[in-house]
Amino acid sequence: MKKLLISFVTTALLVTPVSSVFADEATVNMLMKSYQSQGAKSGNALRGEQFWNKTFSGKTPFTERSCKSCHSANLKNKGEHVRTGKELKPLAPSINKLSLTKVKKVNKWFKRNCKWTIGKECSAQEKADILAFIKQQ
Ligand code: HEC
Repeated sequence: MKKLLISFVTTALLVTPVSSVFADEATVNMLMKSYQSQGAKSGNALRGEQFWNKTFSGKTPFTERSCKSCHSANLKNKGEHVRTGKELKPLAPSINKLSLTKVKKVNKWFKRNCKWTIGKECSAQEKADILAFIKQQ
């Protein structure tokens, strides 16, 4: 299994054109594969962007919620956590080299942030779309 994973990662790295994308392609590919195994089709960046900018209703005091509540609309900018006021690093991989580099981290935050923002976990398709959008920022 480990061997298989290594060869998968190596292949993913080899077939990746270096300049066109910033995110860690192996990580993104692994995430995409897992969403597809849960029934998603390939990620659509435009749909991801629409989701990113959509407002959902939630409980007081945060009646209007979106991904932008903490991250900024422009992913290249820093964000500010709506509850703690803490500064968040930009999500755009072109600016923040650590963004989208760890499968576990992405899964953890997708779970937590979708629950807070839309009141439930995002679907595999929604995650694939958002990922396609974020990775090209
Ligand atoms: C309540 C605040 C908040 C909201 C709303 C929020 N996030 Fe986040 N998000 C965070 C924090 C905090 C982190 C961790 C940042 C860090 O470790 O640098 C994070 C990290 C992430 C990451 C991990 C990036 C990486 O690889 O480092 C992704 C992906 C993400 N958020 C997507 C989303 C999406 C999609 C939405 C909307 C559904 C959303 N977030 C809404 C607070 C939020």
